[in-house]
Amino acid sequence: MKGSELLTGLPGHPTHPPLTDAAIGLYSGATAFAVLSALGVSEENLAIAWWIALVAGLVVTGPTAVTGLLDWLKITRGTPLWRTTTLHLVAMVAATIVFVVAAIVGHGGYVDREVTTLGLLLTVAGFGLMSAGGWLGGTVVFVHGMRVLREQEKPTHEAVKPDSGRDGGDAPRAGLTRPGAAPDARDG
Ligand code: HEM
Repeated sequence: MKGSELLTGLPGHPTHPPLTDAAIGLYSGATAFAVLSALGVSEENLAIAWWIALVAGLVVTGPTAVTGLLDWLKITRGTPLWRTTTLHLVAMVAATIVFVVAAIVGHGGYVDREVTTLGLLLTVAGFGLMSAGGWLGGTVVFVHGMRVLREQEKPTHEAVKPDSGRDGGDAPRAGLTRPGAAPDARDG
């Protein structure tokens, strides 16, 4: 295993996507708890759950952003992939800032067991930005094909194995990476 793979993951098994699942899950939970609490459903309990889920989402966002940033650094500047990924980065940083402000202004509500109007609005706004960023992240992977190996015929017992030695196998796609960048950035 190469040193950088400890953070960014192995070819075919990147670390950013599973971390995004955890972050998005926590922020989505926080948004649902905030809305339900504001509607009067288990108001006090869900106000506490809202703030804790928000803070847990922020904690998970740290490693999520670091792994995403390390992959982003390997992309050739000015390519369509770079533009889409940079838009994704901007949307996610904006969402994170809004969630940080929601957690700060919402702390009083957490103590009083009530989701404040500002806390609710900021949480919903953060969720909107995060959803836009998630759409762009999905575009990076499922349209541009970043870190996808496309080995449909590979036997399952080989596909599930961590195989840091391979370089993606199929032809490198032009414009995906800086010249000399790690081969796994091209295809896996
Ligand atoms: C500095 C911030 C970030 C950068 C530079 C960044 C970069 C990237 C890159 C390069 C990819 C392509 C796949 C990969 O490399 O593994 C990606 C995919 C994705 N990112 Fe990020 N990311 C950032 C933050 C986040 C955050 C905080 C979230 C979630 C809250 C997120 C959600 C996603 C999603 C959903 C995908 C598509 C992967 C999938 O659907 O499994 N990203 N991002």
